Amino acid sequence: MTTFDRQPRREVPRRRFLSRTALRSSAVAAACWAFACGGSSGATPCNVALPTSCPQPALHYRDVKPIIDQRCTTCHSGLTEQWPLTDYKHVSDWFDIIPPMVSTCQMPPPDASVPITIEERTKILTWLHCGFPE
Ligand code: HEC
Repeated sequence: MTTFDRQPRREVPRRRFLSRTALRSSAVAAACWAFACGGSSGATPCNVALPTSCPQPALHYRDVKPIIDQRCTTCHSGLTEQWPLTDYKHVSDWFDIIPPMVSTCQMPPPDASVPITIEERTKILTWLHCGFPE
């Protein structure tokens, strides 16, 4: 089954977002990945399995938007240097970059203590895996 057959329509080059903060949070994320995001920080444990099948009925953007609004758009609002995740087009543009970030708990950044659950991560990943229906 081919799922990610759409091409991204990125308007914003990724390079723009590489900052010192970014590098630091990548290091934290790498450590977090190595130690399964556990430990005393209270971070969400990161054992998110990548989805291999699609539920019926399919998930739609409206099913994941509340999660993204709650867990991502505090930073990805379009008002900061982070690219926005505020509507379908913006989220779907990044369909290929979001899964590795979300499944390894690199996003939301571990040091931001965003209380996202494994179920919420899985829901976003499943929707993307299934071709991100609008
Ligand atoms: C606390 C602020 C914050 C929150 C919340 C947050 N992000 Fe981010 N995000 C960032 C920053 C800062 C960067 C830039 C980091 C970098 O370039 O390494 C980033 C970059 C990204 C990237 C691009 C990484 C790359 O390689 O270019 C993706 C994808 C992403 N975020 C997805 C998400 C998703 C999905 C959520 C919600 C589940 C989320 N983020 C929540 C701050 C945040």
